[in-house]
Amino acid sequence: MRPRAASRRSRKHFLAVIAGGARLCLLLAVSLLAAALVSQNVKAQKDGSGGRWGEGYFPNLAVVNQHGKTLRFYDDVIKNKIVVVSFIYTGCTQICPLTTARMAQIADRLEDVLGTKIHFVSISVDPENDSPEKLAAYASAFYSGKGWQFLTGTLENIRAVNATLGERMRRLEDHRNEVVLGNDAIREWARNSVFGDLDRLAYDIRSMDPEWRAQVRPPLATSAEAMDQGAAPLVTGQNLFIKLCAGCHAFGAGDRVGPDLFDVHKRRPHEWLQRFIMSPERMRARKDPIATTLSQRYQAVRMPDLGLSANDAEDLIAFIESRSLTVERHTRHQQQLIGR
Ligand code: HEC
Repeated sequence: MRPRAASRRSRKHFLAVIAGGARLCLLLAVSLLAAALVSQNVKAQKDGSGGRWGEGYFPNLAVVNQHGKTLRFYDDVIKNKIVVVSFIYTGCTQICPLTTARMAQIADRLEDVLGTKIHFVSISVDPENDSPEKLAAYASAFYSGKGWQFLTGTLENIRAVNATLGERMRRLEDHRNEVVLGNDAIREWARNSVFGDLDRLAYDIRSMDPEWRAQVRPPLATSAEAMDQGAAPLVTGQNLFIKLCAGCHAFGAGDRVGPDLFDVHKRRPHEWLQRFIMSPERMRARKDPIATTLSQRYQAVRMPDLGLSANDAEDLIAFIESRSLTVERHTRHQQQLIGR
């Protein structure tokens, strides 16, 4: 037996991990923007005027999507639509690819309305580097369905667009990880986070549609929250995996954004796994041969640095082992059933 993390860490610790990771990329602009959006939201709801959000507020500048198509930002992307906006750049090695991975998990939950009632928009904060081709490769690593545009354009135009949406980042690493939800038709705008419960976020997004809102009652405590508060917390590693890794990795179901992790603990030395999970970026920088080969194979997206401790990595590896075993047993059982 390997030494496992001594204590069962609580929800508090887990949230600290997320907060710690998010802090890597997150910034000042958040609070300013939050205040602006919230008051705007309240104003819009109170007097129905929608304040300055809407036509005439969003710049109607040219932007380019991942298919190389030029669009007018207000007319073609925002106008009369329900949108979920995130800010990304393909060169990010910290937490932002996780934002896109979590968005992709939400996209799966909203499949019935994505591209018709609801539209996802991911805007590059590094338009000089993010060509439509790069965005297309990045986008298709996460999601292959409809209803999700990745936008770039001239630095000037993209800056103007992002500034209106509150993305006033100074440095790339600082850029915000929160998403902005908006319904232009009723001028309602709000911020949300992709790091909470995904079912809840899917609900909040659908709720941007007043018709839907009128028909559906709010959900009860979500399963994840219920489990967090309950007597039998899930294994810490599993919790971490669900929140931080599942958007990009599967077990025995094939590659997602990153490689399938079934039996990865048998393919790689334990110490390597631990170091890689803690900081893939450091491993790549040091030209670790396995890390280098992997990044050549998975070119569109880098595995992000998520600010995890050695204990977290141990918990995750323990989870990877147990999960692989479950998958293996399941496969063997299936084979027995079909008489082999
Ligand atoms: C945004 C997507 C993304 C997220 C989130 C992510 N990974 Fe990865 N992961 C990748 C990619 C892509 C690779 C391929 C290596 C690279 O990026 O250079 C990888 C590689 C790996 C490998 C090496 C696999 C091998 O075959 O050797 C392990 C182990 C791993 N990830 C574990 C994790 C764990 C544990 C988490 C959660 C804490 C996680 N990953 C979160 C995308 C992701």
